[in-house]
Amino acid sequence: MRTTFYIQIRISIRSLAMFLIKTWRSMAFGLYGYTNFTKSGFLEHAKKFEPEDMQARIEGKNCIITGANSGIGYATAEGLASRGATVYMVCRDKERGEAAFSRIQAVTGNKNIHLEVCDISSISDIKSFASRFSSKDVPVHILVNNAGLLENKRIITSEGYEMNFAVNVLGTYTMTELMLPLMEKAAPDARVITVSSGGMYTAPLTEDLQFNGKNFDGVEQYARNKRIQVVLTEKWAEMYKDRGIGFYSMHPGWAETPGVAKSMPGFSNALSGKLRTSEEGADTVIWLALQPKENLTSGGFYFDRAEAPKHLPFTATKVSASSERHYYEIVVDLPCRRRRSSIERRPLALRDRTGALLCTVAAWGPNRLLRDFYVFGGFREVGVVAVVTMVVGAGGGGGGSVVYWC
Ligand SMILES: NC(=O)c1ccc[n+]([C@@H]2O[C@H](COP(=O)([O-])OP(=O)(O)OC[C@H]3O[C@@H](n4cnc5c(N)ncnc54)[C@H](OP(=O)(O)O)[C@@H]3O)[C@@H](O)[C@H]2O)c1
Repeated sequence: MRTTFYIQIRISIRSLAMFLIKTWRSMAFGLYGYTNFTKSGFLEHAKKFEPEDMQARIEGKNCIITGANSGIGYATAEGLASRGATVYMVCRDKERGEAAFSRIQAVTGNKNIHLEVCDISSISDIKSFASRFSSKDVPVHILVNNAGLLENKRIITSEGYEMNFAVNVLGTYTMTELMLPLMEKAAPDARVITVSSGGMYTAPLTEDLQFNGKNFDGVEQYARNKRIQVVLTEKWAEMYKDRGIGFYSMHPGWAETPGVAKSMPGFSNALSGKLRTSEEGADTVIWLALQPKENLTSGGFYFDRAEAPKHLPFTATKVSASSERHYYEIVVDLPCRRRRSSIERRPLALRDRTGALLCTVAAWGPNRLLRDFYVFGGFREVGVVAVVTMVVGAGGGGGGSVVYWC
């Protein structure tokens, strides 16, 4: 007796194309990564490094490093402290922060190291930090946005944001924007260095910022977040090009850190012995902090002390400039809103739309005070005050310190 089975597979052209593109992205990333991002890649690239690039002393320069108690952030803090900088370590956990702070002080002998406790997943915590720190009234020469994580579960923060997005994107965005007035005081030598990741090579920009779609995938969300950091850096470079602040994003390579061991144990085990040290991961961050700015490209993405491509060939991760601006505006818009989950799924109410429009106008407008007022204020609560501020702000000219009030 013979039985015949028929299996019918229906695949739309679009799904097939997406499948092929995603497969190619992963393969291209894997191949490129394995040959460049591992320890052997670092040692190969290091043959071209100039030792004198790292010999500068930076006494008197104030550096803020987020996530400075562990991995690449710790190595960066130690590297900058050993070159004489005044280092502000921003850590979320007081005990872990204190332990790292004591170690760095003991190793470097630098007494100008400070610990600041701040949870980068919380906009209100960053605002409190910024307001505390602004009262010191010190110029900020270097801000290293290093704090980051890859959370595999979909966790929502107390402010209503998906956790990866909250730390990697909103935290980076909010910290940078709030530090700009202090960075302007250090102009023309101020710079923002954002630790992105080569993982962004697998992701184009997407509107689903908080991964509301089905089948949450922490690795994919992380890659999307890291892509946004690269685009934010470009936008900042463009928007603030006349303010004496340089903006750089970078990839540290694949380094063996507590974060990687926790979030990607399979990857960490499979590449055991082949990963970079945290110091090797921090090498380009420190290099970016020390180079004369005229040797660097603001808005650029760096890897192993050189500018690197932002896209791999044929991976279709590039979107048009207008789409980039659109995504940027969505990110800028988020801190304006009150706590909500599934934020971008809901249609905007009229007053939200007005607020979003004001945010956007303010974000692209020439007036810093006005922009900061809207971006970080709870605009929905301020109605009349907003209009008054707009008038005052429009007459006030740019610059100056910003009132953080909400
Ligand atoms: N290692 C790699 O191969 C690799 C590759 C590409 C990019 N990166 C990027 O490099 C950066 C550093 O990562 P790492 O590998 O050094 O990992 P790590 O050892 O886990 O360090 C991450 C740091 O960020 C801090 N952090 C996380 N969430 C925070 C929050 N809500 N508020 C304040 N601080 C927070 C962590 O604090 P706790 O100790 O309290 O958790 C820790 O100090 C990240 O941005 C990561 O995406 C790493």
